[in-house]
Amino acid sequence: QDDLQTLVLTTLDKQGVIEDTTYLKTADGSAVDQLAVLGALNSLRSKDMVDYKSIEREVWTLTEEGRELAESGSHEARVFDAVPAGAEGITIPDLQAKLGKSASIGQGKAFKNKWINKQPPNILVRIVDSIVDQTKIDLQQLQSTGTLSDAKLLADYKKRKLADKQKLFAYSVSKGPEFSLEIKKEATDVTYEMLQSGEWKNATFKKYNFDAVGVAPSGGALHPLMKVRQEFREIFFEMGFQEMPTNRFVESSFWNFDALFQPQQHPARDAHDTFFIKDPATTDRFPKDLMERIKVVHENGGDTGSIGYNYHWKQEEAEKLILRTHTTAVSSYMLYKLAQETKESGFRPAKYFSIDRVFRNESVDATHLAEFHQIEGVIADKNLSLADLIGFMDVFFKKMGMDKIRFKPTYNPYTEPSMEIFSWHDGLKTWVEIGNSGMFRPEMLLPLGLPPDVRVIAWGLGLERPTMVKYGISNIRDLLGHKVNLALIHDNAVPRLDKKMGKELIGINL
Ligand code: PHE
Repeated sequence: QDDLQTLVLTTLDKQGVIEDTTYLKTADGSAVDQLAVLGALNSLRSKDMVDYKSIEREVWTLTEEGRELAESGSHEARVFDAVPAGAEGITIPDLQAKLGKSASIGQGKAFKNKWINKQPPNILVRIVDSIVDQTKIDLQQLQSTGTLSDAKLLADYKKRKLADKQKLFAYSVSKGPEFSLEIKKEATDVTYEMLQSGEWKNATFKKYNFDAVGVAPSGGALHPLMKVRQEFREIFFEMGFQEMPTNRFVESSFWNFDALFQPQQHPARDAHDTFFIKDPATTDRFPKDLMERIKVVHENGGDTGSIGYNYHWKQEEAEKLILRTHTTAVSSYMLYKLAQETKESGFRPAKYFSIDRVFRNESVDATHLAEFHQIEGVIADKNLSLADLIGFMDVFFKKMGMDKIRFKPTYNPYTEPSMEIFSWHDGLKTWVEIGNSGMFRPEMLLPLGLPPDVRVIAWGLGLERPTMVKYGISNIRDLLGHKVNLALIHDNAVPRLDKKMGKELIGINL
């Protein structure tokens, strides 16, 4: 490339102009590639060292067969050569055997040119002593000059597939205002070093190329978790659920724990499991009448029929600000709202869901992060029973392709009974835990103000696991956090929660 630029400049220096770069020759006499010439010219022109115009011309070139004939003679000449002089001639089968393909192609023309004749019985004889192979001469001329003066002949050779037209580009070049034999290196940026040394004062800077193709702007992309979330949202909406507002990552211990009948000395409430906010560290923005009722229920059960936890409940503990450890913090707040509405306008059954981020002070590994997403569902209605919860779970998980569901009793401070949800894994031939559920305790619901015959069933599961399985991601850190693979986020398609996904969903052990 640099050599070509130099060649153009020295030629211009000698000749003043280059009429046609087709005839530009390198030092060793070989022709130059016009595409490379164009590159060199563009680069020189951007520095105003040369100017150029393009020349477009049509040239005729030989096809592969045309080249062969130009070299070793036309088919008709080959036929003539193969027919011996004298009366004995040659039979057509013998000619065929001698020349192959050329025999059949060349005979007609040899007859037409009156070079040979046929004598009975089927013998070819010469009728002239010598011939001129005009086809060969024409093709050779076309090969060296790129054309023939007779347009009809050109058309004829094209029809015989011996020659074809081609467009060729070349350039005529003249000196530009900055013409010089020396190619100055142009700076593209002002560097720290240039500023330090003062070199920037004399440097020539490369011009902006406003015609350059820009970097394709990368549009935004939905994170895979958000795409899978949308799939779950649609299942909930389809089943008549309302979405809970989950925009409060920072939550009071009050809504996250106390309102859920979680005792203040519960291990989940210490710094090993929960992130505490330092500044501000506390809030007292929660309803004080509710707080009083909750205090009593924690201490002695109040009028719920429970005996409570029998300890001294402290407001300071409830005031501590934390990053919410589960979206059930939102559920407790929403059930309080529902109770408020009930007081004003009577009870209405409610179905709520949320899918959002929660935080746990856990050590991070390939399958655990300190933050993840929970899918949470809550149904409040009169006279709901455990059978409703089990029946609902069956329908809900079937929609995700999981048709064999089983439950195991477990413990949550806020639900009784509580059930872990298991799904049968065909591949592993085992039951895999997929979520947690239960019926909210009266100790939680009555202080919130819900009528005593209102029951609330609820469940929760993780969003990360189905997403990782769906996208074939084995390390959670590739999906979330500072090491995330942006290309993966950008390029992944929208998932579908099909039957297959349900099977995959239960593919990873907890
Ligand atoms: N909050 C529970 C968890 O974080 C899930 C759950 C929600 C359990 C609702 C029961 C009822 O695992």
